[in-house]
Amino acid sequence: MTVDYALLNEQMEALAQSEGWYVALFANASALLWETLPDINWAGFYTVDGPGLVLGPFQGKVACIRIPREKGVCGAALRENRTQLVPDVHVFPGHIACDSASQSEIVIPLRDRRGRAAAVLDIDSPVLNRFSEQDRQGLEAFAHIIEKSMKGLTPMEKTIYLAGGCFWGCQKYFDLMDGVTETEVGYANGEAKNPTYEQVKHGAGHAETVRVVYDPARLPLRELLERYFQVIDPTAVNHQGEDFGIQYRTGIYYTDPADAPTVTAALQDLSRRYDKPLAVENQPLQAVENQPLQNFFSAEEYHQKYLEKNPNGYCHIHFD
Ligand code: SME
Repeated sequence: MTVDYALLNEQMEALAQSEGWYVALFANASALLWETLPDINWAGFYTVDGPGLVLGPFQGKVACIRIPREKGVCGAALRENRTQLVPDVHVFPGHIACDSASQSEIVIPLRDRRGRAAAVLDIDSPVLNRFSEQDRQGLEAFAHIIEKSMKGLTPMEKTIYLAGGCFWGCQKYFDLMDGVTETEVGYANGEAKNPTYEQVKHGAGHAETVRVVYDPARLPLRELLERYFQVIDPTAVNHQGEDFGIQYRTGIYYTDPADAPTVTAALQDLSRRYDKPLAVENQPLQAVENQPLQNFFSAEEYHQKYLEKNPNGYCHIHFD
């Protein structure tokens, strides 16, 4: 029996549009697969937790709770960040048999906004060679619908704003770090609201800043700050590399007051490594007067991920 993937994925689109919270989304996605796909005995999700996977919403028999990264079809999908289509689980090295009835299986990674596996969709069948190329394509499209709208998978994510000179290179530098889940470049702690690049360039008072969202379980703040210190001259006043101006000052702007002692301790340690005073600002991200806004304004779209779009763009940070 063939599956109408166009219809299934239309239904999944409708569900994904109404709710992005990953528990609700994964629960309904499992139920939809369970109702729609013939010859399956398990359909559900594992989410990334630390180095391995932990059980998420599913339909089917009670399943193993944790899967190490090195094991199972799910572990392989996580490690290789690609679909595993297994016609016969008995010949897959390291297959984990949660249900001895399972004969074949497909596992598809769901990626976060930076393309890293954040969860896997696992579907098992009691029939050998159950999943065809058509199933793979339909189910990869299904997974893609979910990954576009899933939210809340890293509940412990935190945000900090780091100014380190030209924000093009800083953004790329943070994007390359394991544990950073999202970045955005913008203008922080200046006078005007929603400034343009031109205004900032002509001394509006903002610092070119990267909003860095990170998972402290994988990348503690102290470690993130140490790596940030490696690409700045923390003693330079209003300049980094070839760039001069107040917008190129360095600064750590936090939004959680609980981060303040970590920032202060990191800067104290850093100052012992220099014989000149540090110029790195250590402040909360300012609030905008009488408004629920914070003083960080997203930069124009062409500045976002600039060095991905323009690999030869100048920057004080070198990546070779
Ligand atoms: N068979 C999977 C384990 C999860 S259960 O199928 C629900 C694997 O080898 O990763």
